Amino acid sequence: MSEKAFVMIKPDGVERGLIGDIVHRFEKKGLKLVRAELKFIDREIAETHYGHLRHKAFFEELVEYITSGPVFAMIVEGTKAVQNSRSIIGPTNPAEAPPGTIRGDFGLDVAANVIHGSDSVDNASREIDLFFK
Ligand code: TYD
Repeated sequence: MSEKAFVMIKPDGVERGLIGDIVHRFEKKGLKLVRAELKFIDREIAETHYGHLRHKAFFEELVEYITSGPVFAMIVEGTKAVQNSRSIIGPTNPAEAPPGTIRGDFGLDVAANVIHGSDSVDNASREIDLFFK
């Protein structure tokens, strides 16, 4: 059954000109881009999006990073879109992400790991509402 996932190229990925390559990877995988927007996100949206990490030492740095420049927010759709997105994105820490994954190919540091992808269908729906309301 088709589902939707929220994917966001973070400010470092946009700044480095990686939008085209990354979108191409989702398309080659077979996921359909159904909505996309280049935009700045404000602190309130960033803090809500990363609310589950509010108690972490890196939280403030994370919010500053994600609001430091435009992000490329996307909705992708297809079979198991959440799981399939996560598999081409790779693990959170680029140093542990295998070559061939987006984080493995384009990232160095967990604090600037190029891209976000929803980790569950429920969170995908919450994130789509938050970013595209
Ligand atoms: P998390 O939700 O755990 O991972 P994912 O993005 O893979 O779902 O973490 C959210 C973001 O927080 C992560 O993409 C990068 C940042 N982060 C750090 O800056 N330092 C850390 O030690 C961790 C675990 C995450």
